[in-house]
Amino acid sequence: MGLTRAAGLAEYAKLMRQAPGEVTALADDLLIHVTGFFRDPDVWEALREQVVAPLVAAREPGAPVRAWVAACSSGEEAYTLAMLLLEESDRAGKRLDIKVFATDLAERALAHARAGLYPGGIESDVSPERLARFFARDDESYRVRQDLRDRVVFASQNVLQDPPFSRLDIASCRNLLIYLEPEAQQRVLNLLHFGLREGGALFLGSSETVGGAEALFEPADKKARIYRRVGPTRHGTIDFPPARAGGRWDRRPGPGAGRPLAAGGRTGPPHPAGVVHPGGGDGRPGQPRPVPPRRHLAVPPPAPGRAVPGPPGPGPGRGAGGGPGRPAPGGGGR
Ligand SMILES: C[S@@+](CC[C@H](N)C(=O)[O-])C[C@H]1O[C@@H](n2cnc3c(N)ncnc32)[C@H](O)[C@@H]1O
Repeated sequence: MGLTRAAGLAEYAKLMRQAPGEVTALADDLLIHVTGFFRDPDVWEALREQVVAPLVAAREPGAPVRAWVAACSSGEEAYTLAMLLLEESDRAGKRLDIKVFATDLAERALAHARAGLYPGGIESDVSPERLARFFARDDESYRVRQDLRDRVVFASQNVLQDPPFSRLDIASCRNLLIYLEPEAQQRVLNLLHFGLREGGALFLGSSETVGGAEALFEPADKKARIYRRVGPTRHGTIDFPPARAGGRWDRRPGPGAGRPLAAGGRTGPPHPAGVVHPGGGDGRPGQPRPVPPRRHLAVPPPAPGRAVPGPPGPGPGRGAGGGPGRPAPGGGGR
């Protein structure tokens, strides 16, 4: 409100009615974007040992590996997972078709994620070996190298409204549930269960559990918050509104990445439904810039009329190892 120089709430409300972009900017500012590379390093090590290495060992060369990082913020978590998958596939001497779908509600955080440019401070989170392998120095910053960048597909998505991915080997949903009301938490857990293949791994934040959804997930490592999907796909536990028009998928080269899914019928601004913690945030930078790690991000507002990934269709994800592979509303998840 201060940035718009509105004299008071009434004037700010009037401004929001006249400029829909301001509504989106306010919604973005209310979200908390704290994140980092290898956030909670011990649990990432546990994920590598218990999930990533066995998964890579079990796959034939060239086979798809599909992961989803929901609420990816400015991208660090998604790149972290992609680094682990690449490292383990190198270690096993296998080339796999690795695809990490990374989504968030906040367009401005996604803009940073897509740019893949991070400040020198990431040296405290990323080892020199990983910096050398996966990043290129760019003045005082680090830029994600192309082979890592190509593994990650970013898209805007409201996890409370939009369809999930399907046939997933790993779903990481860290530090989102803590901000949600119990009912919304259950909805997200149902969605993650729907998206994961049988035996697929769910990775939550250090203060989160599958409480209330114990029939859907069994603990693999309680301390590390790693769970395995169990039980049949439960049709009818999730419902999707018609997907919105357009699509904001990366258009980067790479298997399966690149084109929006078929357009649906609904458009509208993002809706941070269920998010109960207000955050700070003040600036409105227009261009991607290095992201200060582990701080609340002030990210630029999305263009009005931004859209989320579309509905299922013969898009890149429908084939093995391809893109999103959204299930039809009420349809099969795997
Ligand atoms: C604290 S950050 C977590 C980032 C990362 N997962 C981590 O643990 O480092 C929470 C993220 O959730 C996103 N978020 C909040 N509500 C959401 C929703 N309904 N759908 C998708 N993302 C949402 C926010 O935009 C924010 O980037």
